[in-house]
Amino acid sequence: MKLFIQTLGCAMNERDSAHMIAELRDKKHYTLTNDIKQADLILINTCSVREKPEKKLFSEIGAFAKEKKAGAKIGVCGCTASHLGEEIIKKAPSVDFVLGARNVSKITQVLERPKAVEVDIDYDDSTYVFASSQGMGIKAHLNISIGCDKKCSYCIVPFTRGKEISVPTDLLISEAKKCVASGVKELLLLGQNVNNYGVRFSHSHPKTNFTQLLRALSEIDGLYRIRFTSPHPLHMDDEFLEEFASNPVIAKGIHIPLQSGSSQILKMMRRGYDKQWYLNRIAKLKSLVPNVGIGTDIIVGFPTESEQDFEDTMEVLSLVEFDTLYSFVYSPRPHTSAFEYDKSMLVSPEVAKERLARLQNLHKEILSKKAQLEIGRIHNVLIENHYNGEGQCWSEGRSSSNKLIKILDKKCEIGSIVKVEITHNEGGGLMGRFINELSLSEALASKEYFQNPIYIQEGALC
Ligand code: SAH
Ligand code: SF4
Ligand code: F3S
Repeated sequence: MKLFIQTLGCAMNERDSAHMIAELRDKKHYTLTNDIKQADLILINTCSVREKPEKKLFSEIGAFAKEKKAGAKIGVCGCTASHLGEEIIKKAPSVDFVLGARNVSKITQVLERPKAVEVDIDYDDSTYVFASSQGMGIKAHLNISIGCDKKCSYCIVPFTRGKEISVPTDLLISEAKKCVASGVKELLLLGQNVNNYGVRFSHSHPKTNFTQLLRALSEIDGLYRIRFTSPHPLHMDDEFLEEFASNPVIAKGIHIPLQSGSSQILKMMRRGYDKQWYLNRIAKLKSLVPNVGIGTDIIVGFPTESEQDFEDTMEVLSLVEFDTLYSFVYSPRPHTSAFEYDKSMLVSPEVAKERLARLQNLHKEILSKKAQLEIGRIHNVLIENHYNGEGQCWSEGRSSSNKLIKILDKKCEIGSIVKVEITHNEGGGLMGRFINELSLSEALASKEYFQNPIYIQEGALC
């Protein structure tokens, strides 16, 4: 049996897809195909966070239904499945089942039930996070919490993934150990607010907070790096920042969603922090880890956003100098409180697009300046990919700060850790020179992110 799967949305959806692939492989002997015409089962794992991809779903279903072989099934899964439920089958009768984001562990059951709709957002199956870890390679995703209690005024996620629950620590540790035993070097912990971990467990369990979880996972022998996404700026307390800085297994690249630099807009977004709080947390973080890599998410054109509000966002961008930026024009979403705002509060699409372009241009300028400053720096790179053939030879991997670095003329083993000096950049991409290979203990002891020259200006952040 052949499975074709299309995954949209965030890392949690990727993890859910991996779970469904493993379940279908282990229980129903499915193998993956990229050719839709060969598939016996077509899964579309959807995202609802903005309106556009959700709208595209129905045209996609139509196209897949035309292409598929006779008898092949189509399943719609993920956040749009939770959001629209049986409406999907009503609008698109070629769909065989609808499986909400919190219900993916039921994939093999719905296959057998014609027109099944499983979209319960309170469904609580803590073992849901763990499909077989076979064939994961050197990186594994681990859901540490599911759902979200925050209800930011623009966001549909609490209505597609339900209330937040944390996965018990002992389950996480035993799963992480299994991953490491099968060759995983880097874990990516997933949750909508990872640093709110421990607030509500899926069943009775001793209290553990996120910092304690990080500490416990970092003690697993053979594990090189832990990353996580996303922490919420509000829960970035000093205990967490100090652990982040001092624990060598925690990678020194972090995604801290800002959403807006305007305190007034942040208040309307119900984010729970203001501009000064965010800058203060970044200042503390940079004082502890000067060369930390920071990524963020920003929404422009939120209702009532004025030119001054937008300038506040631009100012935060200039002060923090993010390494990665995911930026979006505000998209009104049903169920959210901002959806109910009066139309007069909306920012016109032209103004929002123009602001998005300005934001992205400033980010590009910052990146090219930062790429120049990288020349001569040393990074420990965990090799993820390599190539040797047709006159070309290179290896590629990421630094602790999450920078993608290409090493020319050297084929390094996937999973090895190599010391690299940045020599130049090509089209914004960092190119490096192989220095030597490091053992796990040498790499953990070297703390290269502290040794590199500090380039943030004194007093740039308050
Ligand atoms: N839990 C994470 C975000 C998850 S959603 C957090 O709290 O930051 C991923 C990103 O999508 C958000 O960070 C936000 O920038 C964007 N997003 C969410 N709702 C949106 C909307 N209605 N319009 C535009 N972008 C949105
Ligand atoms: Fe959405 Fe806010 Fe929850 Fe993030 S914290 S998932 S933005 S409601
Ligand atoms: Fe992720 Fe999209 Fe759902 S961002 S949580 S797949 S709405």
